[in-house]
Amino acid sequence: MRILGIESSCDDTACAAVEDGVRVLAGVVSSQDDVHRRFGGVVPEIACRAHIESILPCMDTALTQAGLTARELDGIAVTATPGLIGALLIGLTAAKAASWALDLPLMTVNHLEAHIYAAWLGQEGPPALPAVSLVVSGGHTSLMLTRGPLDHELLGATTDDAAGEAFDKVANILHLGYPGGPVVEKAAAQGDPTAVDLPRSWLDQERLDFSFSGIKTAVLYHCLGQNASKQAIAEATYAPAFVADVAAGFQQAVVDVLVGKTMQAAARTGARGIILGGGVACNALLRQAMAEAAAARGLPLALAPRHLCRDNAIMVAGLGYHLHAAGRIADLTAEAMP
Ligand code: KG4
Ligand code: ZN
Repeated sequence: MRILGIESSCDDTACAAVEDGVRVLAGVVSSQDDVHRRFGGVVPEIACRAHIESILPCMDTALTQAGLTARELDGIAVTATPGLIGALLIGLTAAKAASWALDLPLMTVNHLEAHIYAAWLGQEGPPALPAVSLVVSGGHTSLMLTRGPLDHELLGATTDDAAGEAFDKVANILHLGYPGGPVVEKAAAQGDPTAVDLPRSWLDQERLDFSFSGIKTAVLYHCLGQNASKQAIAEATYAPAFVADVAAGFQQAVVDVLVGKTMQAAARTGARGIILGGGVACNALLRQAMAEAAAARGLPLALAPRHLCRDNAIMVAGLGYHLHAAGRIADLTAEAMP
């Protein structure tokens, strides 16, 4: 069963072809990092225009890479929620058109469930279930109890900034560039994670929700004191050693909270494994700390492969296979939901 996957929920246009849910035939990502870089974040209008330009060439390239003609496909899967509404609509409209023109079943995919499904695509095979899944990306920080590729129960989520968004905002304060995660991680490698004391919000509380706006504000106060203007933030200069220590302290605090809450959730639910996915799951310290914490509790960790942590359509096409198998076929009335 060969599924064409389409992903356009945020700032990457991606298409992929995957056979039987796991065999990757092609995966193409048209990244928009360069167009959003000078704004320090994703600008929805610009993202939509770029999706419109990229979506059809991206579909063509995926088919060419896979050595398939459109007639050899068995279905179309597309991210329909959550994300930027205009961006989602472009992928969904392209998917509906292809499904109608080729008379193929259409499957609408939840983006967070697709990030979790990336853990099925690693070397080790399917994750141990039920698992506590942590999805950490630029738009989401969610803990779920996962019983299968399509069976998830929300346990907790961020009440303000997503973890990746906090990386992006701290990178902005420190003038490190965009996207924030990789550049903060690189700067942190030269720093001392204990040099700056930053808050670990709600880590000692029972609730399974997250808050990352406090830590971002604490970084800003540490750098510039209270009441710094936008101009002061833009014009500030820092010594490289200072930047490295702030980046390392920030990264350590975020990782402590993410790992701590995931382990709290595992203890409370009696889960038999841990799943980690989403763009922030590229972070080496997070991968290592989660692996150590899971091993200490005897829980197998299913990590999404690094190249499938950031937005991609391989995870969408893979999950589409399971939707098809479950008979969850959408039609042309399917709607995008932000
Ligand atoms: O999953 P993703 O590609 O898009 C969304 O669905 O949001 O995640 C993008 C986010 C960005 O905020 C980026 O800064 C973060 O993932 N990220 C990282 C790293 N690489 C990407 N965060 C921390 N460490 C990294 N190495
Ligand atoms: Zn994502």
